[in-house]
Amino acid sequence: MLNLNITRPDDWHIHLRQDAALATTVSHAAQQFNRVIVMPNCTPPIIDQESALKYRNHIITNIPSNYKTQFEPLLTIYLTDNTTIENIKHAAFDKNIIAAKLYPKGATTNSNSGVTNILKIYNILEAMEKFGLPLLVHGEVTDRNVDVFDRETVFIDKILTDIRIKFPNLKITLEHLTTKHGVDFVLNYNHNTAATITPHHLLLNRNDLLVDGFKPHYYCLPIIKDSPNQQALINAAVSGDPRFFAGSDSAPHVRSNKESACCPAGIYHGPNTVLVYTEFFDMQNKLDKLEAFISFYGADFYNLPRNTDKITLIKNNTVIPDNYNYLDNAIVPFWAGRTINWSFG
Ligand code: NCD
Ligand code: ZN
Repeated sequence: MLNLNITRPDDWHIHLRQDAALATTVSHAAQQFNRVIVMPNCTPPIIDQESALKYRNHIITNIPSNYKTQFEPLLTIYLTDNTTIENIKHAAFDKNIIAAKLYPKGATTNSNSGVTNILKIYNILEAMEKFGLPLLVHGEVTDRNVDVFDRETVFIDKILTDIRIKFPNLKITLEHLTTKHGVDFVLNYNHNTAATITPHHLLLNRNDLLVDGFKPHYYCLPIIKDSPNQQALINAAVSGDPRFFAGSDSAPHVRSNKESACCPAGIYHGPNTVLVYTEFFDMQNKLDKLEAFISFYGADFYNLPRNTDKITLIKNNTVIPDNYNYLDNAIVPFWAGRTINWSFG
């Protein structure tokens, strides 16, 4: 049996939700990761240092006892039209807060407090550049006239390119990358520009989402793209280029909402994120590129030390459960019911 010993991974983009949900999501994350970057799109959103630290305490209370000393949630603050330079300063000097997240208003789940016009926050981006607080971007325009499959591309051309030029010292992560255009954007810059890539955008294209019936558990934003775009993401992830690293965008929604007439966006990986990434790298015959992608490059980009402890992955079947208990409902993970070739040692 093949054994892989790799440095313990981190997840650089995760949604843990809040309150009772944390009992499930934090446990699933802590089983696999040392560090996670926690998205701030709670209700209400995490908009400043005070709410971030309160949220952090709730998360920490929910870490299972055997992971208490090793699991570290890194918080983010949610940019709004009313974010102040003081908010940025406080976040930048707090080691528990790693970045600020830009959601264009209306782009995705819980983005109603998001930024309405990017020009309104240029002074905030300037402060982030000055104080060294990275910008995490949900890179989609929300204009109803822009096709849902083009929203990332239009965002890059109309909004992100100008930000990149105006704030060259601002670290920018284009989250959950979905297009070849996005890959090329990142490759265009040698400094301060990176992207996370999810397991599902590597493993699916829009045929998987739409052919033979719509699959609600494959619906997320940015929406899964076509096969040429998927191929560009695959090439980037297995290239060994440190500008591309893991961020699962694991985003739980209860089963009854997902399997409804208006399915919310978000795919849940739960405790299987590392195994699913491993399955992907194995399918590509690139297992030698797995460790750097999930355990090194993100830490390097954020100037954090690499983890020193190891995990063992074994080439042995795992059956992904049909669902997990979540709130008073169930949650269906990505690839529910499927047998994959990897398990934890
Ligand atoms: C995320 C969520 O549910 O919070 N949904 C998603 O489809 N990815 C929000 C986000 O990251 O866009
Ligand atoms: Zn997300």
